[in-house]
Amino acid sequence: MAQWTTRDIPSQQGRRALVTGANSGIGFHAAKELARAGAVVLLACRSAEKGSQAKQRILNEIPSAQLEVLELDLASLASIRRAAAMLVDDRNPLHLLINNAGVLAPPARQLTADGFELQFGTNHLGHFALTGLLLPVLLLAHEARIVTVSSIAHRGGKIRLDDPNWDRGYEPWPAYRQSKLANLLFAFELDRRIREMHEGILSVAVHPGISNTNLFKAGPGQKPSLSSRLVSGLLLPLFGQSDAQGALPTLYGAVSPGVHGGGFYGPDGFKEMRGYPVEVRAEANAYDAMTSLELWQMSEEFTGVRFGGL
Ligand SMILES: NC(=O)c1ccc[n+]([C@@H]2O[C@H](COP(=O)([O-])OP(=O)(O)OC[C@H]3O[C@@H](n4cnc5c(N)ncnc54)[C@H](OP(=O)(O)O)[C@@H]3O)[C@@H](O)[C@H]2O)c1
Repeated sequence: MAQWTTRDIPSQQGRRALVTGANSGIGFHAAKELARAGAVVLLACRSAEKGSQAKQRILNEIPSAQLEVLELDLASLASIRRAAAMLVDDRNPLHLLINNAGVLAPPARQLTADGFELQFGTNHLGHFALTGLLLPVLLLAHEARIVTVSSIAHRGGKIRLDDPNWDRGYEPWPAYRQSKLANLLFAFELDRRIREMHEGILSVAVHPGISNTNLFKAGPGQKPSLSSRLVSGLLLPLFGQSDAQGALPTLYGAVSPGVHGGGFYGPDGFKEMRGYPVEVRAEANAYDAMTSLELWQMSEEFTGVRFGGL
């Protein structure tokens, strides 16, 4: 099969896309290419300033890009509710929701504004809440897609149903793995639920292999964990790829006609670390119906967001 690249993106004229974490890395490149193809792109960023800078960088390259900055902090349910309410009140159909933003392995346990462990809270619960709240505008769109960005790090991950927020014995990488496994369980369960009720909405999962982004840098005042330094110092130079290339599976999941609901897409190269998008298979526990149900119920309880009717 021919390698899928940004040249294969069909026209996105008349479509609206929201990309979380659109100011950096994979989210930035996905937003840029969707805008190049004609979509109106909402750059959902926790810092309005970084969002505006990203908008300007895209406009410098694509003067005709139609972009809006949306302030959205996925580590705050209040912020998520505010951002979603603005979109739902406008009643403009949303054709693409790209659940991309993420944090990786802060060496010391951190909490979101609502008291959830930062990675579980941001990477999973924040996107769970955002998706549920945006469902009304996704349902207004013809053929909407929800793309959730996971990771090969979901492999070896485990959902700690009894302690998902790591109140006991926090470990940075296992906590990241849990959040990325949760991304997959959510994307697949959402697809099962949506498909029964609403033809035309697809939920898919993607992963970018190992890509050169800001992900492996720790926050201000923190040293990246040893594993993060190993990935960025060794794996990335040897086996990794650029952030633009890393955005291809996300774009493929978002726009390729070859995609099916509940599919998982990642790079085709060695150990899925780099390459061109193809369908891949997640670890068996990502398809476990009981765990996804328990995670779904827990996520509803923690966030207070219910997916009306699903
Ligand atoms: N790079 C890789 O090799 C790799 C591999 C597997 C999976 N992934 C996944 O790819 C996705 C994108 O990561 P990336 O590699 O592009 O890293 P990145 O360059 O660090 O981008 C992450 C984005 O998420 C945003 N973000 C973090 N916390 C947020 C919050 N509370 N609210 C809103 N936005 C927030 C960041 O905003 P700030 O700029 O303000 O921090 C940034 O825009 C993540 O889900 C990550 O898990 C990446």
